[in-house]
Amino acid sequence: MRYGVIGTGWIAKSFIDGARMLCNADFAAVYSRTTESGNKFASKNNISEVFTDINEFANGNFDAVYIASPNKLHFEQSKLMLESGKHVICEKPITVEPEELEELQSLAKQNGLIYVEAIMYMFNPARELLKNALKKIGRITSVHFDFSQLSSKYPAYLAGTLPNIFNPALATGCLMDLGIYCVYPALDLFGIPQKITACAHFMESGADGSGNSAFLYGDKLVNLTYSKLGQDRLGSQIFGDEGTITVESISKLTNIKLIDNNGNSTEIIGDVIKEKLMGYEAQAFERFIGNPDDPYYQTVCERALQVSKAMKEIRDLSGITFG
Ligand SMILES: NC(=O)c1ccc[n+]([C@@H]2O[C@H](COP(=O)([O-])OP(=O)(O)OC[C@H]3O[C@@H](n4cnc5c(N)ncnc54)[C@H](OP(=O)(O)O)[C@@H]3O)[C@@H](O)[C@H]2O)c1
Repeated sequence: MRYGVIGTGWIAKSFIDGARMLCNADFAAVYSRTTESGNKFASKNNISEVFTDINEFANGNFDAVYIASPNKLHFEQSKLMLESGKHVICEKPITVEPEELEELQSLAKQNGLIYVEAIMYMFNPARELLKNALKKIGRITSVHFDFSQLSSKYPAYLAGTLPNIFNPALATGCLMDLGIYCVYPALDLFGIPQKITACAHFMESGADGSGNSAFLYGDKLVNLTYSKLGQDRLGSQIFGDEGTITVESISKLTNIKLIDNNGNSTEIIGDVIKEKLMGYEAQAFERFIGNPDDPYYQTVCERALQVSKAMKEIRDLSGITFG
């Protein structure tokens, strides 16, 4: 598969490395706002062509685009790529608004193209292992998913600058960056909740620095917590009346254990490098391009829309807005 890349941050490099590791991926072009940044990224990642005009890039000689720009740009850039006949894999959150996602899912379908969210959870083989483990802990009534990671950009913010991740104008902040990793497994494992409650803590920039939401089901309560202002050391837990599942990283689904009520622990999965998890995203994307009728593609599209709608509801309940 010949790819073009939008965005020159570290995550774009991880995707390229992962796709090269697990697929026969050829990264042919990169779009950057500046020649300098584009050239630097291209030489570091062995990419031959650099574009600084997005319309020229859209007509480049490649079949698929990986988008890793700030969230606010995902919709317009994905739209342009889909209109230009490119398959699109776009970083999470795939769009800001669910209506935008519906529009682009329809556009992709009309144009015979594949359009997916680059979210590790949905393409991670550990997802099935986790689903199987859930069957072994009895009746589940309580769940706590946490993704709290002290931002590497926080010192710069405290020093008086405004990093993109804390700039509401770019539709970033904690829920959009980290909370989404809790929303995905909640909806995927337990379905659509009867009720959602949510609140957030706001930084002076207006971005949500941390927050929580609770998903209420008829038979269980799923609590989601997320923060960019402090570091989690305990991970996530799913409580059943016959045992507990602990998950060190809810985004990567790594270091998962099942602990029975006597305290006996069984490892479900250990550590996996991030590049490999991103390689799984590329593998599935390429499989869908080869077979658009793959039933898992429908699941991935439906789940993305459910997550986008739940994220919108959490934003509305928490008062999170983007300027
Ligand atoms: N899957 C994961 O684990 C993971 C991890 C991190 C981020 N992400 C996602 O990846 C995306 C990018 O995140 P990031 O942290 O890399 O973002 P970022 O550093 O703020 O921006 C990514 C790239 O976009 C360009 N850019 C920066 N500011 C811009 C602006 N104001 N207008 C237009 N272009 C701009 C820059 O490239 P040029 O200067 O070369 O144009 C930059 O390298 C986000 O959607 C995020 O949610 C995913």
